[in-house]
Amino acid sequence: MPDRVLGIIGHPVGHSLSPLMHNFATKELGLPFAYVAFDVAPADLKAAVRGLRALGVAGFNVTVPHKVAVMKCLDETDATAQCIGAVNTVVNKNGKLCGTNTDGAGFMRSLEKAKFNPAGKSVVIIGAGGSTRAIGVSLLRAGVKRLTLVNRTRCRGLEMARILARHGDAVLAEGADATESMEAAALVVQTTSLGMKRSDPLPVAAPRFRKGQLVYDIIYAPAETKFLAVARKAGAKTMNGLAMLVYQGSESFRLWTGKKFPEEKALKLLINHLGGGK
Ligand code: ATR
Repeated sequence: MPDRVLGIIGHPVGHSLSPLMHNFATKELGLPFAYVAFDVAPADLKAAVRGLRALGVAGFNVTVPHKVAVMKCLDETDATAQCIGAVNTVVNKNGKLCGTNTDGAGFMRSLEKAKFNPAGKSVVIIGAGGSTRAIGVSLLRAGVKRLTLVNRTRCRGLEMARILARHGDAVLAEGADATESMEAAALVVQTTSLGMKRSDPLPVAAPRFRKGQLVYDIIYAPAETKFLAVARKAGAKTMNGLAMLVYQGSESFRLWTGKKFPEEKALKLLINHLGGGK
């Protein structure tokens, strides 16, 4: 019987694949952990975190919309979480809840898997939310030449560009400039939630892609968003968010259990769960 608790707090959280992935891993390795999804409304966040501390859980993931707000509820946050400005993983260290962020590391490992080295390259990121920041900071720290942001709302885009510019060359592009930057970039990363629903419009009006670039959408369900389909048809290499999900989870799992996460098996499990990657 598992006697140590791991989990995820979010709102909503029912769609999360983390319970499936982590319970598979603990079973596979014969570890005494159970991973539970907790739907926590924003007004209850503080009380929920206090409760998790009192219950002595081994650790937990944090997802939308709590990744930033949870920082104030923890005993400490590490340099990575502070740099990204958000927490997705909390580790209970002898009763102290310590926050970190494995999203950026997960993203970078997924690029490695795709054999893409961003150093010295031009990159475009669409969006200006929490995932944008984790991915943007990680890419700039990995030495991208220029990071161009594209976002629906100008002021949010400018604010994100200003934050990212602390880590390297980051600018906001609009209109024709944005389209040109996307076509010229070696890597285009789509970080908004647009594309999860079939009825969603494209995150940018008329994207142009080309052969030789990598187009990455952090959405994993559907496996191919409209955005990725347009990129594939233009000859670009495409990648969805499943590998990032597995690698960020892998790093969290290592922090909680000290054990190596069965990455390839978990990836296969999730592909099957999502309907064979279609
Ligand atoms: P996160 O959950 O990642 O912290 P979010 O607040 O959900 O962030 O927003 C993520 C991004 O999705 C934002 O860049 C947002 O654009 P705005 O800054 O203009 O709000 C983008 N986004 C969400 N819905 C969108 C839509 N219908 N069209 C274009 N962009 C959209």
